[in-house]
Amino acid sequence: MLLAKFAEVLKARRFGRKKIMARKVPIGVLLSGGGTNLQAIIDAIAAHKLDAKIELVLSNKADAFGLTRARNHGIATEILDHKAYPSREAFDQAVVDLLRGHGVELVVLAGFMRLLSPVFIKAYSNRIMNIHPALLPSFPGLHVQKKALDHGVRFAGCTVHFVNEECDEGPIIIQAVVPVFPDDSEDSLAARILTQEHQIYPRAIQLYAEGRLHVSGRRVLVDGLNKDEGAVLVQPPLQS
Ligand code: GAR
Repeated sequence: MLLAKFAEVLKARRFGRKKIMARKVPIGVLLSGGGTNLQAIIDAIAAHKLDAKIELVLSNKADAFGLTRARNHGIATEILDHKAYPSREAFDQAVVDLLRGHGVELVVLAGFMRLLSPVFIKAYSNRIMNIHPALLPSFPGLHVQKKALDHGVRFAGCTVHFVNEECDEGPIIIQAVVPVFPDDSEDSLAARILTQEHQIYPRAIQLYAEGRLHVSGRRVLVDGLNKDEGAVLVQPPLQS
């Protein structure tokens, strides 16, 4: 054990940086649809870029393709149909019980199209992440790529945030920005944003795994970040 750690430190030094030791965080992924973000997380784990283990994939939709992705990788799945429960709270309690039963520490919402009740938020306070296909706090809710286009913004993007009791409102962990072009359709913009979702969601989970995220009021402080004072995006560019 000690020898293995020593070897890892030596390896990290050889690559010129100190690797932050991270444990494998037990996560549960909740989804309602295709699960491309789930796939990005599975792939990041396989590529040793993400120190997490997916203990459970849960869907409220039996036909969600994300369930097939999970089964293809031997990951445990559960289907809980919210319509079978008398209230949002009863459904959420059943989800929480399942997550706890599988030893889940961090809940990852990946296209889970349900609002969470306080029952859920309190059970996993600051341990629920969500990804949203807009630069929050702009464009919360649904059909946000269309809303961004209709508004005429020059940049769009995606946000990973901790979930609180308000919809798409919790402390922001990471965001990625993409340009919006004059000939964009809702689909082309959504695809550009989705590509970045697949980059930032595994990254956000890895920061959690490394113990580098600290929630302070509305802000998430990230240990060990480098500042780039010159970083700027201008659209249309200053010079063409
Ligand atoms: C993603 O674009 C995600 O940001 C969005 O649903 C999609 C799920 O795609 N989530 C929300 O809009 C939540 N407010 P996926 O099933 O392919 O990961």
